[in-house]
Amino acid sequence: MQPLHQTVQVTYHYSVYFTEQLFARDNTLLRDVLSIDPIPKKVLCVVDQGVWQHHPALLDTIQAYFRAHYTSIRLVCPPLIFQGGEEAKNNPANVAVVQEAIHLHGICRHSYVMAIGGGAVLDMVGYAAATAHRGVRLIRVPTTVLAQNDSGVGVKNSVNAFGKKNFLGTFAPPSLVFNDVHFLQTLSMRDWRSGIAEAIKVALLKDAAFFDFIEMQAKPLLQRDMALMLQLIYRCAQLHLDHIVQGSDPFEFGSSRPLDFGHWAAHKVEQLSGYTLRHGEAVALGIALDSTYAYLEGWLYEQDWQRILELLSSLGFALFTPELSQHHDQQNDPRCIFSGLDEFREHLGGRLTIPLLEGIGECIEVNKVYKETMKESIALLEMYQSSLQMNPGTGSDGSAVGTR
Ligand SMILES: NC(=O)c1ccc[n+]([C@@H]2O[C@H](COP(=O)([O-])OP(=O)(O)OC[C@H]3O[C@@H](n4cnc5c(N)ncnc54)[C@H](O)[C@@H]3O)[C@@H](O)[C@H]2O)c1
Ligand SMILES: [Zn+2]
Repeated sequence: MQPLHQTVQVTYHYSVYFTEQLFARDNTLLRDVLSIDPIPKKVLCVVDQGVWQHHPALLDTIQAYFRAHYTSIRLVCPPLIFQGGEEAKNNPANVAVVQEAIHLHGICRHSYVMAIGGGAVLDMVGYAAATAHRGVRLIRVPTTVLAQNDSGVGVKNSVNAFGKKNFLGTFAPPSLVFNDVHFLQTLSMRDWRSGIAEAIKVALLKDAAFFDFIEMQAKPLLQRDMALMLQLIYRCAQLHLDHIVQGSDPFEFGSSRPLDFGHWAAHKVEQLSGYTLRHGEAVALGIALDSTYAYLEGWLYEQDWQRILELLSSLGFALFTPELSQHHDQQNDPRCIFSGLDEFREHLGGRLTIPLLEGIGECIEVNKVYKETMKESIALLEMYQSSLQMNPGTGSDGSAVGTR
């Protein structure tokens, strides 16, 4: 018998809204967007504990909002709370609790699960929603810079398992995203800064003018200028969304993952640090490492490499951490940073493909990484970092590090 062939095409639409005080009684955006037909929509709400701690009135505000718009939207129970940060993705019980609530409260594929929190809580809730009933609708309300400009606007969700980051997960676009600027005010300095690393990443890959903008505005950004941060978030989210569509591989069927610049090392070092490093901090290390490698391999001009390191360090990112240089000599040791290359390849499938820089705003893909050059890059970053510590405030003029 002849084989039967089929092509399945599915189109997803979703919007990212920018607002302030999403749950203020007179802000009808959420209600209006959900009132697409006369049937009231059921919503199960999940909140990041860290957000709740900094916004103690949030749960009452959410419940009051739903009561005020009862004819259009119904909260099925008081919001569920989960510890924020990587713990949300490391504890397998969390997914089961969300799925059980979906079951108990009759959340169907025309109802919504709404996740309010940092990237970790959004990833975990997104995974639970994507696997219940083979996928219920997800509303993301990202509350960190990183989640608003990167993780919350994309199509991926996941939890960690078997000691591997994002081992379990799905590609499942959200139904809606609401970026509420109000939440950003309570971020710790670390979380304010972390999201800037993803913006630098996407700027380096795709938009030199955006890199110039971040470089020019580094100081006010660090001083928490909200208007500038909104510009940064908007452009970064836009580049991210454009990539998902224009790259025409939103579900990453190919071996290449161009947006994951610096991420083979970032994911590994995050894990090796016992998740004491924020994702954005690990991304900054990964960007510094792969930029240094590209410079040593002769792809990146020295002045571009210097600009990258200077920008990262001026924003307060560390460019070296001991996890980068441990266990190099033990083959296949999972504590060695280079095992991150194997894990990256395994996660993607196919050939190892990593994005590297040929210039600011210019990216190439390589299939081979020379470990000796990578070790040299790590040693150079260690020297760079200690020269900064010896001369704090002087920035990096390159004089303290070897160049070639
Ligand atoms: N799905 C994707 O495509 C994707 C992309 C990039 C990163 N990620 C994931 O995102 C996660 C990192 O997310 P993140 O950087 O948003 O940090 P996070 O979710 O780890 O949160 C960091 C801390 O900030 C707290 N917090 C959150 N919002 C707050 C607020 N408004 N005020 C005060 N505290 C607040 C949290 O409770 C937590 O303690 C990682 O797990 C990473 O793997 C996913
Ligand atoms: Zn990332």
